[in-house]
Amino acid sequence: MPGVPVEVRDVTRRFLRGGEEVWALRGVSLRVEPGEFLALIGRSGSGKTTLLNLIAGLDRPTSGEVEVGGARVDRMSERERTRYRRRVVGFVFQSFALLPLLSASENVELPLRIAGWPARARSERARQLLALVGLAKRAHHRPYELSGGEQQRVAIARALAVQPSLLLADEPTGELDSVTAMEIFQLLRDVARSEGVTVIVCTHDRLVAEYAGRIEELRDGRLAPPAERDVWQRWQARGAPPRMPGLRPAPVAPALEPPPSSEPSEEDISRWAPPERRQR
Ligand SMILES: Nc1ncnc2c1ncn2[C@@H]1O[C@H](COP(=O)(O)OP(=O)(O)OP(=O)(O)O)[C@@H](O)[C@H]1O
Ligand SMILES: [Mg+2]
Repeated sequence: MPGVPVEVRDVTRRFLRGGEEVWALRGVSLRVEPGEFLALIGRSGSGKTTLLNLIAGLDRPTSGEVEVGGARVDRMSERERTRYRRRVVGFVFQSFALLPLLSASENVELPLRIAGWPARARSERARQLLALVGLAKRAHHRPYELSGGEQQRVAIARALAVQPSLLLADEPTGELDSVTAMEIFQLLRDVARSEGVTVIVCTHDRLVAEYAGRIEELRDGRLAPPAERDVWQRWQARGAPPRMPGLRPAPVAPALEPPPSSEPSEEDISRWAPPERRQR
């Protein structure tokens, strides 16, 4: 699953709220290279989730272009966007969004089931993915038997199940302590490196600075030029985030098999759990 380039050109997004116009994005242009790990930071309301949703094909820009892997996401029909989300994009949410009655392995297998994989191939792939995220021994545990960090690892394994080229995460460490957050960022970085997936993460967590290949800051719906990066400057004024020794070594990516060709159902994984809006 080689990563894809993401190109956002002069994108705006206007919302109407109670008859009032809100410009969530006011002309954002951004290119993300295949296999890059980009962190989008910015104050609450600066437009991070809006931008991520446009790249995810969950929403359309008011104007401007969104191109992922050479395909114009902003021009896709509803049906094409569903297909795009299912085939190209993996989603990771703040709240993990695992199904509580299913084991870790069954949660990871779910998108494969929808994609029409045969049972044995599914369980083998789930086994490989859980090993990739360091949870080989937790395959049969249910979410409530796992820590928050472990649940988020399962969610990352699930997001990778159908070999997406682009992994999008909105506040993936919002509910985790700082050591666990670092492990999640490290895992996302390793996934970008070893699997070549392009990773874009929206976050308020300054620990991301240790792991992201690049950080861009949104300010009032625009990408802030370096001198105007308020959040970034505040992070820097607090000093570099602490390096934590003793993190687990980076998982070694197993050679993942390509998915068997089959006709997937029309179910859309991205609709299981829309990204949650959290007030800060
Ligand atoms: N569906 C919507 N309808 C109306 N306004 C919206 C909608 N979605 C977002 N907005 C507005 O657009 C702006 C940007 O919101 P967005 O959720 O992208 O911010 P954010 O940077 O992700 O914030 P946070 O850090 O709190 O998650 C905000 O003013 C928000 O209220
Ligand atoms: Mg947000």
